[in-house]
Amino acid sequence: MYTEKVMDHFSNPRNMGEIENADGVGTVGNAKCGDIMRIYLKIEKGIVEDVKFKTFGCGAAIATSSMATELVKGKTVQEALHVTNKAVMEALDGLPKVKVHCSLLAEEALQAALWDYAKKNGIVIEGLKEPKEEDHDHELDDEEE
Ligand code: FES
Repeated sequence: MYTEKVMDHFSNPRNMGEIENADGVGTVGNAKCGDIMRIYLKIEKGIVEDVKFKTFGCGAAIATSSMATELVKGKTVQEALHVTNKAVMEALDGLPKVKVHCSLLAEEALQAALWDYAKKNGIVIEGLKEPKEEDHDHELDDEEE
């Protein structure tokens, strides 16, 4: 049911963890299943220098966040906006239909992190929409490194 690439990113996720003093942080929750994802961005001169993610989510959410972080690393902020759930799913050679909503977490967390970065720096990223409000922030906060 899962492609080899999904299994690979699920069993061996890339860029898992967190970035201290990140330039942008985005946290989103999936209304359907209650899973949560957070993405951290380190941005240097408009380029995504580093990216990490943390997720309390299913295997598909882990695989899609892992692939999403791989796709945005080294890209410009503008290019990172094009890393949609569709692009991530294509890069993973597809996801089962019932798991498509999981891939939205990665896209939404990434956009929320970009929004946070733009807000902190007083810049406008063309085409970026304000993320929906959510209140899951505290749920990942009390973890020790
Ligand atoms: Fe919740 Fe996949 S079932 S993100």
